[in-house]
Amino acid sequence: MGAVGSKQHARVPKVSKLSDVYDDNENSVATRYDTLVSAFKTQFEGEKPKTIARSPGRVNLIGEHIDYEGYSVLPMAIGLDVIVAVSVALKEEGNVEEDEAEATLSIANVDGEKYTPKEFPFDHEQEVDVKSHHWTNYVLCGFKGIFDQLKKQNKLESVLESAFMKRVKKVMVMVDGKVPLGSGLSSSSALNCAVTVALMDAFELSFTKGELSELTCLSERYSGTQSGGMDQAISIMGEKDLAKRIDFNPIGAMDVPLPTNLTFLIGNSCAVSKKAESAHKHYNLRVVECRLAAILMAKHYGEDIEKAKTRVTLREVADLYCNKGDLWTALGAVRKALNEGSYTKKQLENDEGLGDLRKIFDCENNEAFNVVLQKNDTFKLRDRARHVFSEARRVHEFQKICEGQSPRYAVSGPIYEHWCKVIGLEPDVGVASDDPTKDFGHPMYGMGKEDALAKLMHLSHESCKTQYECSCDELDELVDAFMSAGALGARLTGAGWGGCVVAVCESDIAEEILADVKKSFYEKRFQSGVANIADETNLLFKTAPSAGAAILHYDDEKGVIV
Ligand code: GLA
Repeated sequence: MGAVGSKQHARVPKVSKLSDVYDDNENSVATRYDTLVSAFKTQFEGEKPKTIARSPGRVNLIGEHIDYEGYSVLPMAIGLDVIVAVSVALKEEGNVEEDEAEATLSIANVDGEKYTPKEFPFDHEQEVDVKSHHWTNYVLCGFKGIFDQLKKQNKLESVLESAFMKRVKKVMVMVDGKVPLGSGLSSSSALNCAVTVALMDAFELSFTKGELSELTCLSERYSGTQSGGMDQAISIMGEKDLAKRIDFNPIGAMDVPLPTNLTFLIGNSCAVSKKAESAHKHYNLRVVECRLAAILMAKHYGEDIEKAKTRVTLREVADLYCNKGDLWTALGAVRKALNEGSYTKKQLENDEGLGDLRKIFDCENNEAFNVVLQKNDTFKLRDRARHVFSEARRVHEFQKICEGQSPRYAVSGPIYEHWCKVIGLEPDVGVASDDPTKDFGHPMYGMGKEDALAKLMHLSHESCKTQYECSCDELDELVDAFMSAGALGARLTGAGWGGCVVAVCESDIAEEILADVKKSFYEKRFQSGVANIADETNLLFKTAPSAGAAILHYDDEKGVIV
């Protein structure tokens, strides 16, 4: 079972009112759906959509790069989403010509000039061409994921043999996306999730939200990034007015109410984060580094080398050997188990006795890891592990404070208090560092709830920047711009290396802060052409927790019901 308050067993809602999903002006939303439907009809020669679904982007408030290490994260769904219309044309019974024709999957976008259409065979075993980076790759991921899930449930054969599937002639997909690409707001998962939900409904299948979250997490790996499951889980399970603590193994989403006097702001750094293209030197490299760190920690705890090599996540090792997963204990262990600086491949293979790294990462079958090992010779393990454990702790504290615990209580579990007493330290919370006293850097005593949350966000950014090295100059400049404008805290959100910053402020000064950041960060970019003033509202805006995936009732006479 997942956490209390989890909705993983529920189904994606079928809504018949746009206001169930959107806070924006309903007329403009309805117009967007009308445009989707007419683009569908034009592209597919008069065919009507059978199903319409939507799934949102997300902003992660805290918990960066720890989902693939098994630790909980704390995102919320945002109002920007991807909407998808789907229909399935069936072969006419008894029509021999149609019977023999190859079924197809035809994909198009409302903005067909920028996002060109593509047609694929209707074949769930086809490979995704990771080298092409075409936007339709994510649609293919969603398509394949549905069949993977059926296989997992031992239903693949019966579904493929069903009268419906055997008669499929053409699956038509029309997409409209409003989540800015490469912004760290998870446009790719919003697309994958919206497509998966729409296809599921059009194929007359039904998966729970938990199943959808897991299958979309796995299917997105066909695009070439070995990402964790945060983006898909919140896109599917997000809810209006609630942030969520997303848990993994098993998947779950626990409601986290945010303080009502605070507003969250999003700013795009204008540095595009191309997750799939740069995965080998950024995202996937970090996944490899964390796994190597887990292996060396298991070895440090006396595991036989062959056994240690089967360890996949840092959490697995911490749960086994660090006081049942106590994160401060894990942070202490990192210092003993892992060398400072980088390890070379040779050191890991020979001196540490890991042997051929390619075998550990199953490079023959995993191209993503194969490229990482081909293109990198040095791996930083201590800093990465430190970030993971300290960030996991910050998520826990953030949630507790949102739930009303005093900041002092939230940071001091009994083991932690005891340990602090033993080594003579005041309990507080900070960025892990080599100096043990700094692991406990910032005292949270006496801090108000708002300041404590903001402080945790600030510490998270520092850790991302210095230990996980996933920030960049533009993100750091934007964090500073928000702070100088009066935000309480700000941090990069999403994978980093470009993309967005999320900031938190007292609600009554949100507009002032936006105006100030516009002046200090964006105006020069509008002038130099790095950013386009026409995109202003998508670059810098207020956000609030929004609804997750939904299937929308569509009536060809009346359109999408308002
Ligand atoms: C990307 C991935 C997520 C997560 C974040 C970093 O968005 O898709 O799974 O790892 O990066 O927190």
